[in-house]
Amino acid sequence: MDFELKTLTPARICAEKCDALIVLVSGETSAGTDAVSKMVTLALKAGDFENKAGKLLSAYRPEGIAATRVLLAGAGDGSAKSIRTAVHAAMVALKNTNARRVLLSLCALPQAGQEAARAAVLACADAAYLYSTTKSKPAEQKLKQVLVAVSSLATSRAGFDKGVGLAKGLALAKEWANRPANHATPTMLAQAARDLGKLPGIKVDVLGPKEVAKLGMGSFMAVAQGSEEPLRFIVLRYDGGTKAEAPVVLIGKGITFDTGGISIKPAAEMDEMKYDMGGAASVLGTFRALAELQPALNVVGLIPACENMPDGRAIKPGDVVTSMSGQTIEILNTDAEGRLVLCDALTYAERLKPRAVVDIATLTGACVIALGGVRSGMFSSDDALAQALAAAGDSSLDLCWRMPLDDEYADGLKTHFADVANVAGRAGGAITAAKFLQRFAGKFPWAHLDIAGTAWKSGAAKGATGRPVPLLVDFLLSQVQPVRVPAKTRTPKAGARSRA
Ligand code: BES
Ligand code: MN
Ligand code: ZN
Repeated sequence: MDFELKTLTPARICAEKCDALIVLVSGETSAGTDAVSKMVTLALKAGDFENKAGKLLSAYRPEGIAATRVLLAGAGDGSAKSIRTAVHAAMVALKNTNARRVLLSLCALPQAGQEAARAAVLACADAAYLYSTTKSKPAEQKLKQVLVAVSSLATSRAGFDKGVGLAKGLALAKEWANRPANHATPTMLAQAARDLGKLPGIKVDVLGPKEVAKLGMGSFMAVAQGSEEPLRFIVLRYDGGTKAEAPVVLIGKGITFDTGGISIKPAAEMDEMKYDMGGAASVLGTFRALAELQPALNVVGLIPACENMPDGRAIKPGDVVTSMSGQTIEILNTDAEGRLVLCDALTYAERLKPRAVVDIATLTGACVIALGGVRSGMFSSDDALAQALAAAGDSSLDLCWRMPLDDEYADGLKTHFADVANVAGRAGGAITAAKFLQRFAGKFPWAHLDIAGTAWKSGAAKGATGRPVPLLVDFLLSQVQPVRVPAKTRTPKAGARSRA
């Protein structure tokens, strides 16, 4: 889908030929005398339309407007959140039409700035996403072109561009999380990463079983040994900063299918465990967006990818394995496998001398119970990092909530037979999982995002959400350090280093 940004006068909006014109309305009345403004004024006056976020009024071939369909969409207070709701509602209403070219007007919003343009583009792309990879007759993506009309390019351009870049990352993350496990094996995931390596600024390395054994990743290997599919350890690098700059490291849980292993899961809804690589998908999506946005910083992505299967060689409850850190782990429940692959990736991250490490994982059902699908669980040993992640969640409308890490939560992980057990009791399950990970993250500022509740929607709209790509991208952009340039040569654009 193509996005374009333009300034258009009210008269031009009326005259622009398109299949659908979506007009976001947030004011009480509209002062204009053009056909669209008149329609808005009349409809509001008559009580047939409200500007509440999500309210719609549609018209077909109205007088004086060149668009085939017109949708007035209430945008409430005009905030990014209301705009998202409005655009989403309008796009859903257009879903079963033949609209190919849409004109989306933000001109009637009093203060449409960066946030508005970004929210509009993202909501559009999000609603238009269609999964088709494993359909024999893929449904056609009818919507081809979206022209976003604003009253000032200067206040919208940067937000618009960010939205377009982010949309590509979001779509990639959704795509991979939606794919069935037999179409998204560790090998295929590694190939998806390698394809990203063709984009500017990105390099990819993929380690197989032999290299991983050499590194001593005994915990990761223990999970993978129950499957015929060979594991992959994927390393992505985005180099946008100087060589000397320490990288931010993102670690994505890449369990391409989680049966639970010998501690097998119940059959109902087990199919959904194909999205147990949602953390990995969000790392791939974030790198896709980085390639578009080209910020001036260094980022490393680590993805331990394997299946969690029951098998003759699979790990058994009570088995003790040695992690890359040297710590021994008693595997009391083979279904707590995410932390077993993440702990070795955390140890690997030490050698990168990172500025910060954030792991992203569909880690616990307990986090779904605690926070549902609204906010991701966020855990951090570092207040500044926690603050930056929370702020990024707010600004990107991809919310998270900080959870506690009191040491008492680790009491249940004690065992007689190893340095640590991989599970504690049922109580506080999302936190005890985070406490397990924290043992391997002592040497750098660290945060953990539990996205079990937010990466996927069950029910009628079943599918991947692409979260937390927006949060991660906003977080990374917030980590770009202002460039120190001698005063004489300082230019207004000093913050955006070019990649010459
Ligand atoms: N992948 C699951 C967590 C999960 C559950 C993600 C539901 C999405 C939706 C994870 O590997 C797991 O099985 N966790 C166990 C941990 C338990 C054995 C301590 C859980 O949450 O039940
Ligand atoms: Mn599991
Ligand atoms: Zn899992």
